Amino acid sequence: MFQSVRGTKDILPPEILFWQKIEETGRKIIENYGYKELRTPIIEEEKLFIRSLGDTTEVVNKQMFLVKRLGCGEKEDQDEGSLVLRPEGTAAVARAYIENNLDKKYDFVKFYYFGAMFRAERPQKGRLRQFHHLGVEAIGSDSPYLDVELISLAKRLLEAFGVDDFQINLNSLGCQNDKNKFILFIKDALKGKIDNFCPDCQRRYQSNVLRILDCKNKTCRQILKDIVFSEGFLCPQCKQHFQQVEEGLKILGIPYNLVPFLVRGLDYYTRTVFEITHQGLGTQDALGAGGRYDDLLKQLGGPSKPAAGFALGIERVLLAIKEEEISKDSKLVYIIGLDAQAKKEALKMLRDLRESGLCADMDYQDKSLRAALRKANSLNARFVIILGEAELKNKKVKLKDMRNSTEIELGFSELAGEIKKRIC
Ligand code: HAM
Repeated sequence: MFQSVRGTKDILPPEILFWQKIEETGRKIIENYGYKELRTPIIEEEKLFIRSLGDTTEVVNKQMFLVKRLGCGEKEDQDEGSLVLRPEGTAAVARAYIENNLDKKYDFVKFYYFGAMFRAERPQKGRLRQFHHLGVEAIGSDSPYLDVELISLAKRLLEAFGVDDFQINLNSLGCQNDKNKFILFIKDALKGKIDNFCPDCQRRYQSNVLRILDCKNKTCRQILKDIVFSEGFLCPQCKQHFQQVEEGLKILGIPYNLVPFLVRGLDYYTRTVFEITHQGLGTQDALGAGGRYDDLLKQLGGPSKPAAGFALGIERVLLAIKEEEISKDSKLVYIIGLDAQAKKEALKMLRDLRESGLCADMDYQDKSLRAALRKANSLNARFVIILGEAELKNKKVKLKDMRNSTEIELGFSELAGEIKKRIC
């Protein structure tokens, strides 16, 4: 028997309801903020990510899925370069922006995307090999208020999806010069402690010391706890930029924590970085993350355009939502016809409800009333209508609202209107 690939999963009903809600609600909210959808291919050149994310990052070093091209000659393979399944969306959006000369069309532009990303990590709760990002990227502005907009949009989305109790962690890495100063400081602060770090961090100390700050190893985290961070790394411009980000968040009443060792696991970030965490998630506690990447487009050979964005990890958002929240979303109307005549009427009722835009279904398996009710339950139906002899005679039915276990008697023609009122 075949099984799904490790770290990937099928999305089955009723969980699919949540995915549909994320897409529907997410799109509506994001488009209200002025973002346009962009779809990029799932395969990209490996070099794009090496150049963008950094060749010493975990994602590039250990987690990319190389695409093997069967029937492709070695020469062709070399000419085209290695291909990978995209591990994230930012580099791909930057590539698309540059390749399509979008800077000529838009001075400033805001994009969003929803799609599968791939990382060959060791699967565990909240960590998959195929997962989904709902992400946004705004290109062409270095305004600190854009950073505020991004954080407020991420918060708004999470709230609309029904997540509560999340924390927004914030930091500024400053410009590349500031980042270099910060790197020297960390190197210095950790000198003499290297032997106590995990083998990965011992390597990171030489290759990319900032990555030590992302390490989840308990001993490494304990050592990091003792470092005292001074505020001295930001140049005056970056300091002012960050102050304005904080001011904007305060104006909007958005609570946040300042986390001086928040550096993010990808190398393209400069200035503002943020991560949104949820305590209920365990070790993989980031629901989403983002920040500025003012130098990336230039680094990829494009125009010099400051940019910022974020991505939410949808599988983790799902873990953070209570199950009742997901099931609450059902809009299904389930009709049970008790005899042959009632089933004919059910057919018409079903057609009318569906034509009025409602989601409706009926029992096609000639189940007993009890079994049909069980079926409605397992389908997570929000409403149940039982049609029998008396209902046909009086042209009235009882509409059961399963969410609050109430019942209301209605004429056939009143059904659609009442249901719509309740699900809005
Ligand atoms: P990231 O932090 O690598 O950032 O990923 C964003 C989110 O994707 C994470 O916070 C997490 O929720 C989810 N995620 C990451 N890896 C996995 C995994 N293996 N399984 C399940 N969920 C995962 C980025 O990718 C940046 N491109 C975000 C960004 C956009 N920065 C600026 N613009």
